[in-house]
Amino acid sequence: MPITTCIFDAYGTLFDVSAAARQAASEPDYAAIADDWPALAEHWRNKQLSYSWLRAVAHAHCDFWQVTQEALDWALEKTGHAGDTALRERLLQLYWELGAYPEVPDMLATLKAAGLNTAILSNGSPAMLRGAVDSAGIDGVLDALLSVESVGIFKPDARVYDLVGGAFNCANDEVLFVSSNGWDAAAATGYGFTTAWVNRADDPMDRLPWTPAHTLSDLTGVPALAGV
Ligand code: LAC
Repeated sequence: MPITTCIFDAYGTLFDVSAAARQAASEPDYAAIADDWPALAEHWRNKQLSYSWLRAVAHAHCDFWQVTQEALDWALEKTGHAGDTALRERLLQLYWELGAYPEVPDMLATLKAAGLNTAILSNGSPAMLRGAVDSAGIDGVLDALLSVESVGIFKPDARVYDLVGGAFNCANDEVLFVSSNGWDAAAATGYGFTTAWVNRADDPMDRLPWTPAHTLSDLTGVPALAGV
């Protein structure tokens, strides 16, 4: 079947998750992280994902905003900034306005002009996704913001990927699923979507039972994979 529906992971795929720490580090008030912001950003992201998987396995769901805050608290303590409440508040504020990668608006506009369905499928809560999309100015080129909150469990539980067929009434082989998270692209492959892993950092392939159909270095190649 031709691709009718392009589905995007949010954090790390459309939105640059390192941007919050990078931006704060550039501001005089937060010079405390001028040197170690990359480590802070990496710990924050890794713990955020670990906590999402552990909560899914343990059937202890809470929304992604709580996970994001708890992961940040761990990362701040790990990097020696535990007591810096102003820094904590600034980083959390910036997480609501992460920039989209530069190619995102044109790429989504190309898909929409070709008549394809476009949506986000994310661990993010509806409010977080709304904030990020509005801040990036890409609301007009997305048909839906699909959040795991509808099913109360995080990726890669299959019930999350089921949200796509439910929203667009499409078969799995009509879906191109795009994620920068190797494990997400792998799991979506196992689910039955055609997948593209966006490997900006030139990372090794995750050792999982499924291999994404395509690997891209950024999002500019997505329309071609969708047959546009
Ligand atoms: C998301 C996380 C996995 O947006 O980045 O679902």
